[in-house]
Amino acid sequence: MRICVIPGDGIGPEVMGAATRVLRALAPDAELHEAMAGWGAFERHGTALPEPTLAAARNADAILFGAVASPSHAVPGYRSPIVQLRRDLDLYANLRPVTSGANLASPTEGCDLVIVRENTEGLYAGRERLEDDGATAIAERVITRRASARIARAAFELARRRATDLGRPGRVTIVHKANVLRVSDGLFRETVLTVARDFPELAVEEALVDVAAMRLAQSPARFDVLVTTNLFGDILSDVACIHGGGLGLAASANLGDSRGLFEPVHGAAPDIAGRGIANPLAAITCVAMLLEWRGRPEPAARLRAAIAATLRDGPRTPDRGGDGTTAAVTDAVLAQLA
Ligand code: NAI
Ligand code: MG
Repeated sequence: MRICVIPGDGIGPEVMGAATRVLRALAPDAELHEAMAGWGAFERHGTALPEPTLAAARNADAILFGAVASPSHAVPGYRSPIVQLRRDLDLYANLRPVTSGANLASPTEGCDLVIVRENTEGLYAGRERLEDDGATAIAERVITRRASARIARAAFELARRRATDLGRPGRVTIVHKANVLRVSDGLFRETVLTVARDFPELAVEEALVDVAAMRLAQSPARFDVLVTTNLFGDILSDVACIHGGGLGLAASANLGDSRGLFEPVHGAAPDIAGRGIANPLAAITCVAMLLEWRGRPEPAARLRAAIAATLRDGPRTPDRGGDGTTAAVTDAVLAQLA
């Protein structure tokens, strides 16, 4: 199993250090190749996603990605490498699960949902420009039938698997804003509803994105699988992750037809970077997701149990109210595994 590890910037290298320690313990046969991307790479090499990194990602069986720091102002030549990787590797489905359940860090009861976010187009299509001597900025929101149909299929298939695994009926919520974005979200909505006909056993509902945000904050237990476009999914997953114990615990998978990239939902966290106090559990949970995706359920289940035990027994990083370090939490997970 060849794993391409892209630590990135800020706390990315700190949490990837933790994740790779755990991965080595659970999959001693894995070959890890480290590759660079992000702001640091851009400063050193003039590109945020150097060609050797893209090649290493293409050749790997799976990718572990930390986080990158992308400036909030335009920098000529800089493009977000994670957005680029998702598109170049056609990792069209971003799966962002949030569970309370056995998760002692969760402030919520009964939340067990997955946000399925379209990952290759929408407002992140990179079609932005200035007109009118810079007085008007335009972003094009690209929605295609093809991308909408395949993200819908990924969501409905996931809901079907979850219904079987959990022994209860499945439900998919289509999140859009087709009342205003009639053309683009109109196409998304209509395409997803067409795919839904192939899954008659699943309940299907629609929610406009604003009310979906409110319901996610207020009553997350009513959701099962949510399917939505790129920007809405990005925002809603940070809302939803509160119910799983916050950004320090939220992990995600970016999946294509044969490739997988696993990354924490959080970013480079410049406010805490370099202090050794980032919560590594989101990145470590990515290792569990990677192992499950690679067909290694036994070590993945052991890891999930070790994470649950660490949440119960501590130590805790400051985001969870403790004074533990990244290294101490990782040591605890490794000790629980042993
Ligand atoms: P962020 O997710 O980096 O941080 C938001 C807040 O959560 C901060 O207060 C941070 O300290 C805290 N936090 C995040 N992860 C944590 C962890 N593991 N343990 C403890 N606390 C944690 O989002 P922010 O501040 O909006 O963005 C910072 C930078 O990260 C920006 O340059 C942005 O472009 C980039 N970013 C990158 C992403 C990626 O690489 N996929 C995703 C989101 C943001
Ligand atoms: Mg985000």
